[in-house]
Order: sequence, then C-alpha cells, then structure tokens
Amino acid sequence: FGDRVLAGLKVVVSAGPTYEDIDPVRFIGNRSSGKMGFAVAEAAVQAGAQVTLIAGPVSLATPPGIAMRADVRSAAQMHAAVMEAAADADIYIGAAAVGDYRPNARADNKLKKQSGSELTLQLIENPDILASLSAQQTHPFLVGFAAETQNVESYARDKLQRKGLDVIAANQVGDGLGFETADNALTLYWAGGVAELPRADKTALARQLIEHVAARYKAVRG
Ligand code: PMT
Repeated sequence: FGDRVLAGLKVVVSAGPTYEDIDPVRFIGNRSSGKMGFAVAEAAVQAGAQVTLIAGPVSLATPPGIAMRADVRSAAQMHAAVMEAAADADIYIGAAAVGDYRPNARADNKLKKQSGSELTLQLIENPDILASLSAQQTHPFLVGFAAETQNVESYARDKLQRKGLDVIAANQVGDGLGFETADNALTLYWAGGVAELPRADKTALARQLIEHVAARYKAVRG
C-alpha cells in the first residue's frame, strides 16, 4: 500500500471453518481452508491496522505483524472470541465460514453403528456473529462475506440488509471455486455501490478488498 489506509485502526478478522462436534471423533465442518481470511488479515496489517485474527481449525501460519491470534473450534467459541475482540475494534471482517447449526448434544462416547437402522442427528441453530455485532448500539464497521452456489447477487444483498452490514463480499463457491483454492473472485456490495474484483490470487484480492473497505469506512465513519 502506498499510503497506510488503515493506520491507527483496530481490525478483527475471522477466518476458516468451524467444527461442530457430534462425538469425540466426529464433527460437522465445511471446506474453508482459512486462506481468504488469512490473506485479508495480512493485507490489513500491511495497510497499517492493528489486527486480531480469530481462526477456526486451519493449518496456516500466522501472517507477519498480526497483533493477536486466537484459535477456536466451534461456532459458539468463535462467537465468544469475536465478541470479546470486537468490543473496541473499528472494523470487523467476517471471512470465516461459520456453521449455521450444531448437534443439539455432543455424545460423551463414540456413537456406535446400529446396522440396518437410520441415524438421525438433531441440529440446533448457532448464534450469528455478524447479527449479534450489528444488534449492539455501538459496533465496529461490519464487513461480511457471502458464499453462495447460486443467486449470488440476490442472496448477498439480502445478507447485507438482514445482518445490518456496511459491505458484503460475495463469492461463488462449489465445484472448485472459492473454498480451498489459491484464487478467488469477489463482488462487493454496499448501500448505493458495487465493485467487481475479478479472479486473482487471494493475496491480491485481499489487498483490493482492504482498499475498498478503507474507502467505505472513511465515507461512513470518516
Ligand atoms: O477459507 P478459504 O478456503 O480461503 O475460502 C474462502 C471462503 C469461501 C470461506 C470465504 O471467501 C467466504 O466466503 N467466507 C464466508 C463463508 C460463509 O460462511 O458464508 P455465509 O454466506 O454462510 O455467511 C455469511 C456471513 O455471515 C459470513 O461473513 C459469515 O462469517 C457470517 N456468519 C455466518 C454464520 C454465523 N453463525 N455467524 C456469522 O457471522
């Protein structure tokens, strides 16, 4: 970055998947590798921010210059860690793929196979981190992601509104797109604007995302 567009700001970034335990050996997870969120955290450091990274279960090294990293496993743990870190943050960027549901109970012992019968898992809803933040009277500038396999624009615009976000970064996922890959493509939506960030590696894309977030932050909270 030529000028340090986030100098003096505290930024919290979430990254990676969450794992919702079924029993001591099994869980419900998703394909997020954490690459996008880690690239966003690194770009925010390069833009001069003080960055806290809340990471789900990933196997990635902490980018240089990160002020604090907290590793969590479940959506409930990520919710608690983000709420604490975001209490005095200027910007929260939710790149984590947070599980929407968890098993209503975690079995203490490994579930045994019952041959010939179906097994039903009962799932209950997890708290929504972005919605919890936006419900607070004062909260950071909120940037969400939307991972969609179809109707990307309409679902992303719906999430922008419903979760009370300042910016949403939408990506098409599935069939080798979005998750796990080195490259991605994003479309940013905010009230009254759109920006297309065409396919590029996640490091380059994260830098462009941070440029836009800094510009929107200054426009709204400047
Ligand atoms: O990690 P990679 O392999 O690099 O892949 C990157 C990515 C595809 C995971 C990333 O670019 C991305 O899209 N992340 C968001 C994935 C997601 O969970 O999207 P969603 O549409 O289900 O959720 C929308 C937003 O709400 C997200 O900002 C999410 O962090 C947030 N959310 C979701 C559920 C919940 N309980 N709390 C939340 O805050």
